[in-house]
Amino acid sequence: MQPMPYIDQHRERFLAELFELIRIPSVSTDKAYQAEVRRAAEFLRERLLEAGADHAELCETGGNPIVFGQKIVDPAKPTVLVYGHYDVQPADPVELWETPPFEPTVRNGKIFARGACDDKGQMYMHVKAFEYMVRSGTLPCNVKFMIEGEEESGSAALPAFLRANQAKLRADTLILSDTSMIDNDTPSISTGLRGICYLQVEVTAAARDLHSGIYGGAVYNPINTLCQMIAALKNHANRVTIPGFYDDVVELSTQERTQLAQAPFDAQAYMAESGFYALQSEEGYSPIEGATIRPTLDVNGIWGGYTGEGSKTVIPAKAYAKISMRLVPNQTPEKINQLFTDYFQHLAPPGVRVKVTPHHSGQPIVTPMESVAYKAAEMAYQTTFGKAPIPQRGGGSIPIIPLFKEVLGLDAIMMGFGLDSDALHSPNENYGLFNYFRGIETIPYFYHYYAQLVAKLSK
Ligand code: BES
Ligand code: MN
Ligand code: MN
Repeated sequence: MQPMPYIDQHRERFLAELFELIRIPSVSTDKAYQAEVRRAAEFLRERLLEAGADHAELCETGGNPIVFGQKIVDPAKPTVLVYGHYDVQPADPVELWETPPFEPTVRNGKIFARGACDDKGQMYMHVKAFEYMVRSGTLPCNVKFMIEGEEESGSAALPAFLRANQAKLRADTLILSDTSMIDNDTPSISTGLRGICYLQVEVTAAARDLHSGIYGGAVYNPINTLCQMIAALKNHANRVTIPGFYDDVVELSTQERTQLAQAPFDAQAYMAESGFYALQSEEGYSPIEGATIRPTLDVNGIWGGYTGEGSKTVIPAKAYAKISMRLVPNQTPEKINQLFTDYFQHLAPPGVRVKVTPHHSGQPIVTPMESVAYKAAEMAYQTTFGKAPIPQRGGGSIPIIPLFKEVLGLDAIMMGFGLDSDALHSPNENYGLFNYFRGIETIPYFYHYYAQLVAKLSK
């Protein structure tokens, strides 16, 4: 394959189009943005057609539409399925953004905006790489795009969509860019993702709020009780205390741990990049292991009682928390949900009532490294970065990825070009211009090597 002057020549437009997409606030968790979500889907459908798709449509799911597009160059050739999401997290707290969240701004070589990386920037690289291949006559296989609009709120409609559209989605491999790489000099392929089990708990101690002077000292305070219960969920070694929690966890071999530890890690830089003051991980595991190959339990939010201005002396009737557990192979959200619920009930003193309500969940996944597609991805990175990518396990979750395996038999190639320090889901989310354009250059090589390797095999 030749160098790609086309990408340089169209650099400004590739950026302008991404900016236009980012300006559409497609926040999926909030119904108030429903019209914007649809506008983003429509925008993408048009861009896919312009880029060279033979066909592109919005598929209705009952939730936010899925953008599907394809170009079939030759039914005898292999088909690559591209997954991504056009929905984004809410921007709040908006006051902490240095520039408005939906007005992309370039500073220090990075695009700052909600969705700049997750996943508009990363997903749109695939659309532009596709355009490049079509225009330069180098598209070596068939392509299908499936870009969804509910990833950030749990992909509720997707399992049914995959099951109902197996023929339409039929492909030979699945690629996506919605994870991170180690750093700009250290390309990496994500070979696994954690699962998730997310739930809300409610602790009730009385039928109504009480005066904290009249009753304080005689009754349970549900906030105090909830805090004690939460504190009991982890021990001094940072291990989760729920009985059975680790039973199904697959321990990595020393060899696998050594391979993952190849990734350069500088604790000071790690802390400085994302602005935290210290590291805390499970005893016996490094911080990177803690954030990738080990399961966790974290409180995401906790509330109750009076939090307004000034003070109010009150013992509230109820206290609440949202709790997530990140899961690793072979834990399942169903079992962990049950173990959590049983133990949390057990932790409650007889004087309070506990309700546990599950939110969304997702299975953990590991992907094989022996496949032709993985090899092709390695060769692609080798070409554009001049070095082989390091396999890395991702700590986040993309619940739909295990379903692609289960329903369509597809293993994912997770070519993330973002960085962990890109502030995903946080104020001032950003994505490097380097990362955007390096992704657009690397993806066509993946197609090139993939088609070549498949052709060689079938000879
Ligand atoms: N792209 C992320 C997941 C991710 C980020 C994986 C970085 C690996 C590295 C995705 O958009 C995300 O935020 N997923 C949610 C899933 C949840 C809403 C079910 C997550 O991980 O919290
Ligand atoms: Mn994402
Ligand atoms: Mn996300």
